[in-house]
Amino acid sequence: MTELQHLFKNNRAWATHMTEQDPHFFETLAAQQAPEYLWIGCADSRVPANEIIGLLPGQVFVQRNVANLVIHTDLNCLSVIQYAVEVLKVKHIIVCGHYGCGGVRASMQNQQFGLIDNWLRHIKDLIDKHQTELNSLPEAERFDRLCELNVKAQVQNVCYTSIVQGAWRGGQPLTVHGWIYGLSDGHLKDLGVSVQGVDDVDALYHLSP
Ligand code: CO
Repeated sequence: MTELQHLFKNNRAWATHMTEQDPHFFETLAAQQAPEYLWIGCADSRVPANEIIGLLPGQVFVQRNVANLVIHTDLNCLSVIQYAVEVLKVKHIIVCGHYGCGGVRASMQNQQFGLIDNWLRHIKDLIDKHQTELNSLPEAERFDRLCELNVKAQVQNVCYTSIVQGAWRGGQPLTVHGWIYGLSDGHLKDLGVSVQGVDDVDALYHLSP
């Protein structure tokens, strides 16, 4: 424990700073959270949600995993989406990938990494689905493009959930966005794949009550 004392020191300094800015900051936050955004991003330490979009604690609900995947059997991610949509009533779900994603890179290789290979198989399936497009690109661009295609696929996966479709059916305003972050310049880019209702979702995946 003692070797991590610097983290506690940082924490106290941060809490003091926040209280100086707003004496009621923690009191207000402890009473309730009302974030407008759900962020689904990569676990990569270089892509911290709050810092990138300049939001304080309490302003963004966050789910992060390796390569920002939304898998329909992942109870963790689905539970986060359900709580964010049905209880917190977030208005925006942001799937944010990043260029240079180690998970995406690993899925392009044949090397075995252990348990995580099973998680990354979802991205390998995307490579298979988009083989023609990916193979037509110069090798240098292929990796970036797969990072983008992965975000788009996860936006669709969010929209295929009964949770999101149920919210839309009930008239709840909810937009799902696909963004990508550049590690080299710190800039976010909107991939222009936002979805605001079931009409923009492939009919095969429509769910009726
Ligand atoms: Co990553």
